[in-house]
Parts: sequence; structure tokens; C-alpha cells
Amino acid sequence: VADAAALDRIARSYEEWALDAVGRSPLYVELARGVARDRELLELLAGLPEPKRQPNLLLAAVQRLCGTPDGPAALRACVLERRDEVVALVLGRRTQTNEPARCATLVPLLATLPPPLALIEVGAAAGLCLLPDRYGYDYGRRRIAPPVAGAPVFACRANAATPLPHGPLDVAWRAGLDLDPVDVADPDDVAWLEALVWPGEGLRLELLRAALRVARADPPRVVRGDLRHDLPALAAQAPPGATLVVFHTAVLAYVDDARERAAFARTVRETGAVWIANEGVGLVDGTAPAGGDPWPSGSFVLTRDGRPVAATDPHGTAIDWLA
Ligand SMILES: C[S@@+](CC[C@H](N)C(=O)[O-])C[C@H]1O[C@@H](n2cnc3c(N)ncnc32)[C@H](O)[C@@H]1O
Repeated sequence: VADAAALDRIARSYEEWALDAVGRSPLYVELARGVARDRELLELLAGLPEPKRQPNLLLAAVQRLCGTPDGPAALRACVLERRDEVVALVLGRRTQTNEPARCATLVPLLATLPPPLALIEVGAAAGLCLLPDRYGYDYGRRRIAPPVAGAPVFACRANAATPLPHGPLDVAWRAGLDLDPVDVADPDDVAWLEALVWPGEGLRLELLRAALRVARADPPRVVRGDLRHDLPALAAQAPPGATLVVFHTAVLAYVDDARERAAFARTVRETGAVWIANEGVGLVDGTAPAGGDPWPSGSFVLTRDGRPVAATDPHGTAIDWLA
């Protein structure tokens, strides 16, 4: 039986997570708060390894097995009635939310680089962010039509300083690296990606499905590997004559040790690639707030070679280029 302090810690983490979900998914706010108050569910979570207690994993497992619960009672029933399956999913899967909308905040920076591009994405999941040239974008004052019918069009608010591209990117080569690549042709993998989308987020699921259709027509190559060790071998495969770019979005939070993040930054530099990071504040050196936070709360920081160039919405719906 878990001690009270451990249960309290888990309850608090669900309460805190619920605060992040406010404004995005009222249902997930309610569900996370429901878990925080439910001793039996907290005990089940306490029996899991620490990284497997995350709300995102539990809620995705429930969505995957039982569909979207309509409230805490339905979530509780799903977890307790299908306990073994829930635990197996939580243990066997990762939070690999693949958000192709993030391309809308990468494209303005990618378009400033000399074409053609050779793209390497570390922490690529299914590689949906490796296809920025295959989607459309609506920046309000400029729209880039999708190159193929049926491809998603991502709406993104861009401030006046953001250099907007005029047309699609020229990508000559692309490859991804992930601890556990997600296969866009595997129905189980795809169902997991869909289960990771929070309910109540408008078009997100629809856009994800459209991006998956684009990816299935010509899947990006994502190789199994660890960004801490396997980047040089992949970078060596990039063709000469293209601008090599190593990029990542929403990945460095999973590399806990700051020294490992710094070592990764050095490795990227050694490849000679342009390094683009779209990550939470402080995960790339030099983006931690120094004397007053220059970043809007909850935003990501887009950096080129470690230098901040924009604040971005973590889900790709806004970019504010720095003056
Ligand atoms: C939240 S997902 C983001 C996926 C994608 N970059 C996006 O923005 O849509 C994080 C991904 O990073 C991968 N990852 C975490 N640590 C990694 C590591 N050390 N090496 C390679 N991939 C890693 C995970 O497996 C997961 O697929």
C-alpha cells in the first residue's frame, strides 16, 4: 500500500496538470481533478514507475480502450474494470503526441535557409513534422496552398515581424530519429496517436487525420535511436548540396539531465547542421528567463543555433517573431 505522501504527490501532479488544461480541454480538467480525488486510482498510479504516472498517458489509455469518458465516473469505471489493459497500455506506450500543426511555426524559419533542405528531426514520433512542405498554411495575411488536395491547412497567427514564406519549401531529403518510431501504416500506432489528442480541441483531431493520410501516401523515414547517441550516423547520410537542418519540437523536456541536453547541442554543432529547436522555455541554454520572463506564459521558444528568434504556441497556432 502506497504511503499517504506518495498519493498526495500524485494527486498534486494531476491538479497541476489540470491547470495547464484549463482553456484547452474542460473535460480533461474535470477528469484530472477527478483522479486527484480518487484514492483507488491514486493507489493504482502509485504502483507504476514514476514516469508512467503522467495524466497524459492515463487519459490516452482510457480514450484508446473506452473512448472519451463523459466524466470522472466513466473514467474510473474504465480504469477499474479494464485495469490490466490500462496498465499494459500505460507501460507499453509513451506520450508521443505528434502535432503536425507545429510545422506552421517552423516554416517561417525554415524558409529563410538556402534551399534545398535536408531535414533531420530528432524525437520525430511518426514524422508528421518532417513534412512541412506537404501541408498548407493560413497565416491570415498570407496563405500557402497545400500542394496536394486533402492535405491539412494549419491556421497560425503570425505577428507583423514574422517573415512569411511565399510558397512551399524545397525539401530534398528527410529523416527522423526516435526512441520508439510510430508507424503511420500501423492501425494500432495510429489509434494511439489519435488517443493522445485531447477532447474539445476543435479541429485538431481532424487535422491530425489529414496529416496522417498525407504521410501514408509517402511515409517519412523515422529510424529507431536516441538523440543523445545516434545523430552523427544519421547526419552522415544526408546528401551533399542541401542545407542540413537538425530540428526538434517538444522533445527536450524528455531529456531530464541539463548536461545531456548541452552535450546534444554540441553534437548538433559538430554535424555542421543548422540547429532549430522549438521547445519549452529554458530547455535550450540561453532561453531561461533572466531577470523577468520575456516569454508569454506557456509558450515555446523557437531558436536557431541556440539564439531565440520567436515565441511560439506549443501547438503551432501562433508565432511572435522577435523584433
Ligand atoms: C511529445 S513527442 C513530440 C513529437 C514531435 N516532435 C512533435 O512535435 O509532434 C516527443 C517524442 O520524442 C521522443 N523522444 C524522447 N526522448 C528521446 C530521445 N532521447 N531520443 C529520441 N527520441 C526521443 C519520444 O519517443 C516522442 O516520440
